[in-house]
Amino acid sequence: AQLPQLLRTMPKAELHMHIEGSLEPELIFALAQRNGVTLPYDSVQALRSAYAFTDLQSFLDIYYAGASVLLHEQDFYDMAMAYLERAAADHVVRAELFFDPQTHTERGVPIEVVILGLSRACHDAQARWGISAALILSFLRHLSEEAAFETLEAALPYRAHFIGIGLDSSELGNPPEKFERVFARCKALGFHLVAHAGEEGPPAYVWSALNALQVERIDHGVQSEKDVELMQRLAQTRMPLTVCPLSNQKLCVFPDLREHNLPRLLAAGLNVTVNSDDPAYFGGYVNDNYLQVFAATGMGAAQAYQLARNSLEASFASPAQQAAWV
Ligand code: HPA
Ligand code: ZN
Repeated sequence: AQLPQLLRTMPKAELHMHIEGSLEPELIFALAQRNGVTLPYDSVQALRSAYAFTDLQSFLDIYYAGASVLLHEQDFYDMAMAYLERAAADHVVRAELFFDPQTHTERGVPIEVVILGLSRACHDAQARWGISAALILSFLRHLSEEAAFETLEAALPYRAHFIGIGLDSSELGNPPEKFERVFARCKALGFHLVAHAGEEGPPAYVWSALNALQVERIDHGVQSEKDVELMQRLAQTRMPLTVCPLSNQKLCVFPDLREHNLPRLLAAGLNVTVNSDDPAYFGGYVNDNYLQVFAATGMGAAQAYQLARNSLEASFASPAQQAAWV
């Protein structure tokens, strides 16, 4: 009975969540109504029952459809405030939010509408709930590197509003090296760099995120276990892995949470963290991820403290700020 209480209340950072993946079906319908958008689902219940995924792509198709109700700055603000209030209730003291500008600019939504709505929410959430929040702009890897460069150029007038660059969407067939030049440019501009790698893709993709993209964290990275040398490299460099247990379960990466390799990655000395990825789609926010993966794998208090400390130290908050949390 003590372990769940510890998991719920310990201060933690959430480093891998897509803000568009926090859109609950109720909010999707409310925004559709507010904006006059027609959805291909009759009800909240019908939409929710479509959340039966077989792999990453089957999720992404529904996730991009859900995001189609976001049109105005207030929509992005409302979405992010709903997530940040929920995160603060989970004792998240620091949240780093991915956002996918191309999902919106491709529909004609100006990038400043996206960035300014999300940024205002990060600011107001800090004032209201004391949570520190920052944004990471993610390129969609199923689109071209040229499109990523165009997105970066469009976002640069608003560069004060985001701290880093990420890479998400369909992994297989879109290796990190496809984005080597745009990531080099982002590094030169002083952004933090992260990338999804080794979610469904092979260890080779994790190697190229490290070597070609020069990332500071690997998002997911759970397939690294298949490569002994990679495991050594990750352990020796204390490279953070932002692992998302419920996401991995729902997308059939580890269909049975009892088989999840998080305890083994941790025992091998990797800098593992626990995150929710897309909480509205995968059945839980960050504390649900801790509670369920602990219950399924039998980890204990020592691992709980380690995971929480890892998350705070792997964040891009200043060392002084981190020291106040640890
Ligand atoms: N993987 C890749 N792209 C994504 C994900 C994910 O888990 N969630 C939202 N976009
Ligand atoms: Zn993700």
